[in-house]
Amino acid sequence: MNALNQIKTVIFPVAGIGSRFLPVTKTVPKELLPILNIPLIEYAVNEAREAGIERFIFVSSPEKQSITDYFKKDKKLESYLKNKNSDLLIGLEKNFISDESLIEVVQEEPLGLGHAIWCARDYIDGPFAVILPDDLIISKVACIKQMINVYKEHKSNIVAIQEIDSVNVSKYGVIDYDDNNKDYYFIKNMVEKPNINDAPSNLAIIGRYILLPNVLNSLSDKKIGFGGEIQLTDAIKTTIKNEGVIGYKFEGNRYDCGNVIGALEAQISVAINNSRYKDKVIDIMKKYLK
Ligand code: UTP
Repeated sequence: MNALNQIKTVIFPVAGIGSRFLPVTKTVPKELLPILNIPLIEYAVNEAREAGIERFIFVSSPEKQSITDYFKKDKKLESYLKNKNSDLLIGLEKNFISDESLIEVVQEEPLGLGHAIWCARDYIDGPFAVILPDDLIISKVACIKQMINVYKEHKSNIVAIQEIDSVNVSKYGVIDYDDNNKDYYFIKNMVEKPNINDAPSNLAIIGRYILLPNVLNSLSDKKIGFGGEIQLTDAIKTTIKNEGVIGYKFEGNRYDCGNVIGALEAQISVAINNSRYKDKVIDIMKKYLK
């Protein structure tokens, strides 16, 4: 059994349709769209690795198997690069996830984020992390590592939260809280995608979670929530009374790469903070801002 204070497993739910990014997502999974030359899913895997996570569960759809292929060895490409460019090969090898560490689960139909997490239930035996790869977070300390540290202190469910403009509350799960202590908010209610007038705060839940396995019991009820989907927020809400849920305001910058403008902002920000591209990107921007 997984010790209660050890979080060694992450779930990446990657079976969504990606409708906000159509038409490209008709054939290219959203999670493989690149920021510079690195796909979103690799940023997510690197974040988990930085936090000491060792088991990587991908909940994917039958049409999106290329996401897990990305982390597997490609013999043909390897033998080509061995002769042509061994530096590129070293770069590629860093991405591999071993067969023992990579678990693939299929969600046959996109019934919602909650359902995607439930699909991984057979592989969960203790607290676990969830990372939504389309929420890219750039931070000094990996966001999920910051959250594991909060978990170690409190042993409750932890959701990452961010202050947002009130006009955007209807795009998120929003928290109501009893009390807060610096960056920790002790949650008393969560509302999925409220109207601006019904939102209990402007603190939105974003795509990082540390969850206790009990949440899976709630998910097994398969309760249909907002938008006709099985919502993870609804299941987490049922744990508030017994296990508690803390909203954690993380340190770092988040980019919502599930939509075109968010992904564009991420491209610009990541490029400007990369010494290899910075000057060229600034030159290009000056040219177009004239
Ligand atoms: P989103 O809410 O962004 O949905 O899912 P989506 O389908 O990917 O994109 P849009 O809204 O149609 O543009 C957040 C995360 O949850 C996964 C998605 O792949 C994404 O990583 N997800 C969502 C599932 O794995 N299964 C689902 O049924 C729904």
